[in-house]
Order: sequence, then C-alpha cells, then structure tokens
Amino acid sequence: MSLSVEYPDQGSPSFPPGFQWGVATASFQVEGATQERGASIWDSFCRLPGRILDGSSGQVACDHYHRFPEDVAMMVELGLSAYRFSIAWPRVLPLGYGRVNTVGLDFYDRLIDALCAAGIQPVPTLYHWDLPQALSDAGGWLSRDTAERFGDYARLVVDRFGDRVPRWITLNEPFVHMAFGYAFGVHAPGQALMLDALPVAHHQLLAHARASEVLRAAGHEVLLTNNCTPVSPVDDAPDTVAAAAAYDTLHNRLFLDPLLLGEYPDLSAYADPETGRTPLDRVIRDGDLAALRGSVDALGVNYYNPTLAAAPAPGDALPFALPDYTELFPETPLTGFGWPVVPDGLHALLTSLRDRYGPALPPVHITENGCSYPGEPDANGVVADPDRVAYLDGHLRALAEAIADGVDVRGYYAWSLLDNFEWAQGYTQRFGLVHVDFATQARTPKESFFWYRDAIARARG
Ligand code: BGC
Repeated sequence: MSLSVEYPDQGSPSFPPGFQWGVATASFQVEGATQERGASIWDSFCRLPGRILDGSSGQVACDHYHRFPEDVAMMVELGLSAYRFSIAWPRVLPLGYGRVNTVGLDFYDRLIDALCAAGIQPVPTLYHWDLPQALSDAGGWLSRDTAERFGDYARLVVDRFGDRVPRWITLNEPFVHMAFGYAFGVHAPGQALMLDALPVAHHQLLAHARASEVLRAAGHEVLLTNNCTPVSPVDDAPDTVAAAAAYDTLHNRLFLDPLLLGEYPDLSAYADPETGRTPLDRVIRDGDLAALRGSVDALGVNYYNPTLAAAPAPGDALPFALPDYTELFPETPLTGFGWPVVPDGLHALLTSLRDRYGPALPPVHITENGCSYPGEPDANGVVADPDRVAYLDGHLRALAEAIADGVDVRGYYAWSLLDNFEWAQGYTQRFGLVHVDFATQARTPKESFFWYRDAIARARG
C-alpha cells in the first residue's frame, strides 16, 4: 500500500532514540470467539436490553482471534515497535481460577510468537475490564478475594509467556472501571453504587500489587495504566476550585498516590459528614499500602481529553459538577463521540504529573490516545479521515513538547489499530486507524494509518 498523506508542514516533532511506537487494542473489543472461552461480565451486560446503543455484543467483534496474522501484518506495515493487547482472563481461566483453558493459552502463544517474529514487542495488559462472570458472581471487585485470584492468574500467564514478554501492564483504567462499571452502572457489571463503589478502587489496586510481586519476582517490568485527565476549575471561586480538586482526587490521585506515594489522597470531600469516613476505609488492611508503594516500574497514561469542573448544585450527591466543555469553549473541535480535541491537555497533564510527583514519577508510556470519527471507504477504497490525522498530529506535537520539558516518556500507543466494539456504544464509534466492515470483516487502512506510518518513520529519522 503506497498512499501518502499530506500533513501540515510545521517540521516534525522529535522523540528520543529508542522511543517505542505502538497501537493498542483490548480483548473484548477485538477478539470475538466468545464461545471458546469462559463467560465475562461484558457478555452478560451485552445481553441486558438497552445497555449497548446498537444492541450488539463482542461475539465476533473484529474476529482478531482468527485474523490476527492479517492484523500483525498491518502492524509491520506501520513499522511498530510494540503492540499493546489484553489477555482475556476468562479465556485462560474460564472461571477466573482453577481449570485452565489450554486453547486460550495457545491463542496468546501464537499471537506473541507472530509479534516476536515480526520484531514487535508484545505488551499485554492482564485486565481490560472483562472479569470472569464467575468471579463477579462471587463479589467481583467489591470482594478482596478477586485481588488474590488476580495474583494467581498473573503467575499462570507469566510462567507461560514470560520468556517472550518483558513488559506487562496489570490493569487498564481502574478509575473508569470503578466509575462506569460500579458507581454509575453504564458499563459491566452495571452496578450503580455511587460512593459505595470506592472499595473497587482498593481491590483493583491490591490486585495490581499482587500481580506486580509475581511479575517482578520473575524479573519483569510492571506498569499500571490509568485514564488521566488534567482538571481545571471553570472559575476562581473557592467552591469551584474545591470542586476541581475533589474531581482530580477521584479520577487521578485515588489511583496514582497509593502507587507512587504509598498513601491515599485526602478523601474528606467524599466522607460521611457524621463519621468522617468513606467506604474505602472499610476495606484497607495493614500492609496494603506498603504493598502498593512503588509497585510500578513505569506508568501507563491514557489521555483523551481534559476536564472542566464546577461547584455542585445544592443537594448534589457528588462534590463536583462537570460542565460541558463546549458550553465554555464553543470553538473547540469535537470528536465523533463529542469529546473536545485539546492536544495541549496532554502537555498540561504530563507536566502536572511531573510537578506533583517529582522524583516519585517513574517513566511514562502513553498507552492510549486517539479519537472516534465516522468514515467509510469511498469507491476507490480510500477512507479519508483528516480529523484523525489532525488529532494525532496535534497530540504527538504536545507529547514531544512535554518530553522537551523534561517529562520522561518512553512510548506512545495509538488507540486503536482497528475500529472495534466501543463498550456501551457498540460499533457506533470508530476509533481505528483501520476501518473494519463488521459484516465482512474486511479491513481497510484509513489515511491516518499511512500518516501514522510516515510519522513513525520520520520520528526515527
Ligand atoms: C479504554 C478503551 C476505549 C477507549 C475509548 C479507554 O477508556 O481503555 O477500551 O475504547 O478509552 O473510549
């Protein structure tokens, strides 16, 4: 394929030698082949009427399970150095513990072998939200036991793949999983517990710590990936500033402070006014924070957009309100999802992490960044997606600036290689560099695919 795409001639952003270039996907969003593994909470959630916008499921998705050789060939064409994918816990352990599904292990073996043969580093995430249904039935992330099971699962996969996989990501976006899955109920497992979801944060972090111990004992590098957002108050009023701090605490600090500093942030904005306690206090045990402190060798950061915060209205259940970005900045472009496109937010985020954590901040990998836009192949098979090219270009420039400002960033993974199952939005949001026709599974690289290929080549000089 030889299509070449014009890009704004502002000079190429520069990246350090050895910088890793990747794409990311997740098991439930791309694999399909659900009948060849144990059930996950997303299988069940998709069956609930009205939960997925287009009524779809992950049953076939992109059929990556069968078509990964074709997908790896496209990664080769991109010139990638790494592929971030996730292992479906119920594919290797159908119940989450006990009996092993060797067919599932074999699949990841073949995928990892294909990547290694192509000179692409496999970077697996152990958990991208597809909890085995059996573990959910036993309490899911509200139960401490799930964290212990996760440590056993980590041991199984590191024993099997550790000879070829040096770098591992334990969890994907524990904030989003807690908030959407357990607080608001818009993702699996569909629980709407509001602040009673806070124990989910601790049990996920503990699971990470258990896995980190196993992985490090085997000599591996360990990351945890969170969705991070720079939070700004909409004005300088003290209530607004306090609301922004409360949101920042919940979204960012709740997950990063224990990992990097060994302590939870001040959660008083979320405490019961009578007892001064939060539901998190019920589940923390002696030794937990010591196990968390310093348990990452590098931090995975997923960045999509910044957040504006305002003071809550009287009687609101949460200590913040999240006004619509475009009400305040109507000129900001939006993605197909309606998310504001703010590349400078990535620079602001990274420099604020540097300032907040200082020497406690380990090297960073941007483990997801991307955008959804509709777009179909034209009569010549061309998928023109100039908005995605502009999005990627802007974010790579912001990233290069953050690196120039001293943030130690080691890699960038575009989300996503393929259009895929976008959770509650089903197949209605297309994030891929490659268009997927879900009726035929035909893959058509978009113009952004060729742009990214050329950007990687330029960055490598
Ligand atoms: C998730 C992906 C998701 C993407 C776009 C991230 O929150 O890790 O699974 O597809 O954002 O919504």
